[in-house]
Amino acid sequence: MMKSPNSALYLLSCLTVLLLLPVPSLSADPDQLQDFCVADLNASISINGFPCKPASKISANDFFFDLSKEGVTNTSNLNFSITPANVLTFPAVNTLGIAMNRVDYGPGGLNPPHSHPRATESGVIIKGRVLVGFVTTQNVYYSKVLKPGEIFVIPRGLVHFQKNVGKGKALAYTSFNSHLPGSVILATTLFGSQPSMPNEVLTQAFRVEDSVINTIKSKFSS
Ligand code: GLV
Ligand code: MN
Repeated sequence: MMKSPNSALYLLSCLTVLLLLPVPSLSADPDQLQDFCVADLNASISINGFPCKPASKISANDFFFDLSKEGVTNTSNLNFSITPANVLTFPAVNTLGIAMNRVDYGPGGLNPPHSHPRATESGVIIKGRVLVGFVTTQNVYYSKVLKPGEIFVIPRGLVHFQKNVGKGKALAYTSFNSHLPGSVILATTLFGSQPSMPNEVLTQAFRVEDSVINTIKSKFSS
């Protein structure tokens, strides 16, 4: 029996959708179309990424970045620090779909629960003992205490943290499959946004009184 033109068209549309489906999941950032595109962070035009610096202005130094120095941790609070090597600090990674962080933890230091909307993260512990944990979209919590040389992975977008559970300082290097992974830090996002998220939203979401929300907000107001 001959297929009607409509059913052939339907079949063709289904095949096209099936073929296109895997494309967005191949990588976090789009592939680059040239060897490199060192970002011109001062360019006035705005695109999805940054325009390239002219080749005449590029030197070897553009491709190297120093993550050897310990970051300054804030001992009064979380006692950790992030030194980022993403497109904003290391413009050579523009369009390459990668970035790194150096993460220093003072004793007891905490990299608080956060997520990266644009990247999967992996990390290697260099010094100390670090509790690494994340929660899935099914609300399952996975965690482990890692020692130097051990690595972890945090699937894209999932909420995670690291806490220094050793005696002295700890150090980790993390990497991302995006030149600008972005970071949503839950506590500051919910309680320290500008303008502030309405109390009626937060009291209902957290099932607590206004006073509880006001207390937490006071700790995150800048
Ligand atoms: C660690 O979680 C990091 O984002 O560097
Ligand atoms: Mn992270």
